[in-house]
Amino acid sequence: MQLVVLGAGAGGGFPQWNCNCRNCAGLRDGSVRARPRTQSSICVRADDAADWALFNTSPDILQQIRQFPPLQPGRAIRDTGIRGIVLMDGQVDHTTGLYMLRERGEKMPLWCTDPVFEDLTRGNPLLRVLEHFCGVDRHPVPLDGAPFTIPGVDGVAFTALALKSAAAPYSPHRNAPVPGDNIGVTITDTATGRCVFYAPGLAEIEPHVWQAMTAADVVLVDGTFWTDDEMISLGLSKKRGSDIGHLAQSGAGGMLEWLDELPTATRKVLIHINNTNPILDEDSRERAELEARGVEVAYDGMEIRL
Ligand code: MLT
Ligand code: MN
Ligand code: ZN
Repeated sequence: MQLVVLGAGAGGGFPQWNCNCRNCAGLRDGSVRARPRTQSSICVRADDAADWALFNTSPDILQQIRQFPPLQPGRAIRDTGIRGIVLMDGQVDHTTGLYMLRERGEKMPLWCTDPVFEDLTRGNPLLRVLEHFCGVDRHPVPLDGAPFTIPGVDGVAFTALALKSAAAPYSPHRNAPVPGDNIGVTITDTATGRCVFYAPGLAEIEPHVWQAMTAADVVLVDGTFWTDDEMISLGLSKKRGSDIGHLAQSGAGGMLEWLDELPTATRKVLIHINNTNPILDEDSRERAELEARGVEVAYDGMEIRL
């Protein structure tokens, strides 16, 4: 199985258009050694397969497709290597790119949970707007542990679980979460049984989430913030990471403590990294700490083979 990180950044990407935090300004003027990152998306296919499952459609999807030619195999006058799209939630950075993919002759094959479908047809009626273009062939994502597959993406199976993060700000349940607002997905190579657990938004590691993490060969999990008050201490927001659905890496009960408890053979990768996070600076103390703990930081173009 081949998994490619199309965008390793959180909402806003890195550098963010209006941001002059140490990382964003430092990336622009060359004083910080770091790679730019587009917004949150991955794609997956079996080794010998032609086509891909896309997870999330970021506002940067067109750039991501240009940067990763296998998504445009060029077999016909209009073509794509994307056979299905799975949404991890209804957040702006995970869904806005659907608009960018509207020039299709056929309906867009889309997998999302009921709460996300509701949000994307009401609070942010993006899927209704798309009905005036290609339209959507929507498939519900089961949350009962039943695996699902995407026709044309052979050799890969998906199992979703509901987890605690946060619905998008426009959602009527932003402050009253319902199961399915956010999901994690175990992506399994059906030929080998090897699997990745992917959860770009993860606020709390509940027992069923931990079970999925310990069962995976690779975990690709929420790397948004180093500290819970990162945005507050920079004067950029009044909200903590935990208020908006992200478990910080450092500190007691933080993501790094959890990752330390995984089997040594598990590959640990952080993704959905906010532009304020010091781990983006490849010379930072925080990045060195990750290296010492055997934790990787995802980047655009990163390929994970299983
Ligand atoms: C999040 O991950 O918390 C959101 O994507 C934030 C945003 O809307 O930019
Ligand atoms: Mn996000
Ligand atoms: Zn910034």
